[in-house]
Amino acid sequence: MQAAPHNSAPDPDGTSEPASQGAPIDPALATLRRLEQEFARILDTSAESSAAADNPVSDGASETTAGEPIFVTRPFLPPFDEVEPLLRRIWQTRVLTNGGPYHRELEGRLRDHLGVPQVALCNNATTALIVGLRSLGLSGEVITTPYSFVATSHALLWSGLTPVFVDVDPRTLNLDPARIEDAITPRTSAILPVHCYGHPCDVEAIDAIARRHRLKVIYDAAHAFGVRRKGRSVLNYGDLSVLSFHATKVFNTFEGGAIICADPARKDQIDKLKNFGHDGETSVVDVGLNGKMSEMNAALGLVQLNYVDAAHARRQAIDAAYREGLRQVRGVRCLEDSGEDTANYAYFPILLGPDYPISRDALNEALKRDGIHPRRYFYPLISEYPMYRTLPSARREHLPVAAAAAESVLCLPIYPDLDEAIVARIIRRIANP
Ligand SMILES: Cc1ncc(COP(=O)(O)O)c(C=O)c1O
Repeated sequence: MQAAPHNSAPDPDGTSEPASQGAPIDPALATLRRLEQEFARILDTSAESSAAADNPVSDGASETTAGEPIFVTRPFLPPFDEVEPLLRRIWQTRVLTNGGPYHRELEGRLRDHLGVPQVALCNNATTALIVGLRSLGLSGEVITTPYSFVATSHALLWSGLTPVFVDVDPRTLNLDPARIEDAITPRTSAILPVHCYGHPCDVEAIDAIARRHRLKVIYDAAHAFGVRRKGRSVLNYGDLSVLSFHATKVFNTFEGGAIICADPARKDQIDKLKNFGHDGETSVVDVGLNGKMSEMNAALGLVQLNYVDAAHARRQAIDAAYREGLRQVRGVRCLEDSGEDTANYAYFPILLGPDYPISRDALNEALKRDGIHPRRYFYPLISEYPMYRTLPSARREHLPVAAAAAESVLCLPIYPDLDEAIVARIIRRIANP
């Protein structure tokens, strides 16, 4: 199966090329093209101040002589005519949300596809994290990584929990298990690690620590769709795992997310929590919120799932091309996998060492001048944002590995329909900054 091109789709996330190739095929698509151009205009005038680092609304991109801007990612979309019948069905039935048939079907298909016991679909990973944390009945402090998208810690603050930042492992950039125990206090109730870039954490070590200290573990697995280690899904570790299906992720439902758990009773509790805490028409059993995925998003997910393997193969090829092309470039380190037997190639981070001729930021700017827009995921560290930096655990001297990574990382464009000629151009530019 071929990964379908999606050059006729609108670009709500601003991650795709604003103008598309080829002629519109009907008036609706012509309208979408006009909207694309409108988005492109907005993108051109907005500054790099788009601080939503992992939801790249804009990178201040402008078209260059080298062609249309290439963003760090471009949302994958299936052919519209495959989605249309499902949308028509929604229009006929008027079942728009509240755990409708597409919602139920997608939960089942994802269980099979991912190899996990329970899937609770949510409207995004941030609410899924908040719901998941609530379901575990946590209090006090939660140990987490500063090297992630800000939603990881924001979910803790929304839940009235205090993040305790622990440094990352220099090899994987995931939470370093060797440093976790020093951070445990009588107030610690859980660990919230992140499978950063989709590379699994040291799950055995983390789970052993959690067992020893009777802590819960909730993995932020926003990047880890489809990742397997030792023959099983990485989502099967810990008490819960949370996936993101945001537009920028390897499997997207425009916006969306899911909580993975083993226990059907936990899934039932989560289903109530994501529906305001309702347990039947007149009973409310907890302070829930509205975290439900709509039928529209679920329908889209069902069609996307048919393309996920083809998209994965394309990502794998691009990952291999970068690795081969950058192997000999002095001062450039490509992040290795961390023991997964199925990777998902969600991101392509490189780390620039002191022997690279120019700084990370200078390379970032040079690439942008060429119309290539990488991202400095994850810079700044979460611990450096105003609502976190006064925490004792946020002090830079406690987080030297994460701080160094944040200063040297650049995530290069990777998405299924990224042209290999562009990958070659990016490699050449990095080799000759
Ligand atoms: C590590 C991580 N956690 C959480 C989120 C939040 O996901 P969502 O946008 O689905 O709320 C993201 C990115 O979007 C992420 O990268």
